[in-house]
Amino acid sequence: MKILIFSASPNTDGLTAACAAAAINGITAVGGEAEEIRLNDLDIGACEACNHGWGTCQNDHVCEVLDDFQALHDRTHQADAFVFVTPVYWGDLSESMKAFTDRLRRCEATRGEKSGLTKKPIIMVAAAGGSGNGMITCLASQERWIDHLHARKWDFIPVNRWNRPYKLQTIRASASAMASEIMGAES
Ligand SMILES: Cc1cc2nc3c(=O)[nH]c(=O)nc-3n(C[C@H](O)[C@H](O)[C@H](O)COP(=O)(O)O)c2cc1C
Repeated sequence: MKILIFSASPNTDGLTAACAAAAINGITAVGGEAEEIRLNDLDIGACEACNHGWGTCQNDHVCEVLDDFQALHDRTHQADAFVFVTPVYWGDLSESMKAFTDRLRRCEATRGEKSGLTKKPIIMVAAAGGSGNGMITCLASQERWIDHLHARKWDFIPVNRWNRPYKLQTIRASASAMASEIMGAES
């Protein structure tokens, strides 16, 4: 059982990092395996909308823009569940999360029900460390993304500077419950 935590902030000690740490803590507390992948440490550029719109993503379900995306794409097939933690930028995903999720959607949504994420549970976390505005619009766009990939909506958790203490506990509890369910299904 493996749960991947994708975090998408340039800061290693901010709100996003605290949310990712809470998720890892919740998963490992119940005996699950968790690994954080910091998208800002990788070379994953924006989708280039190859060939006037669709590249190899459309029929071959792989991205032809070669960088760190390919290895990470493969790893999503091996993982059992996911936690996505993005800082809220302009009421939306951060650029690194947008680049990764846009490209993953093109490769996997085009497989329909055979998407590599079909039925896999996902926790979406939006960390709005500034005004606190935009948490919901950010999570709404992530909900549509989950629909496109036929994944399972385990939880959506908005976090700001004021609710941070109890929302970190919520993330931990949600991640524990998700990991426990997967491990129960395995045994
Ligand atoms: C370009 C940019 C846009 C931002 N837009 C928002 C926003 O719409 N709402 C908000 O609450 N915070 C906004 N922020 C603040 C970030 O959400 C905040 O810095 C967040 O905590 C970043 O996570 P970190 O602490 O892990 O860096 C923005 C920050 C940046 C850099």
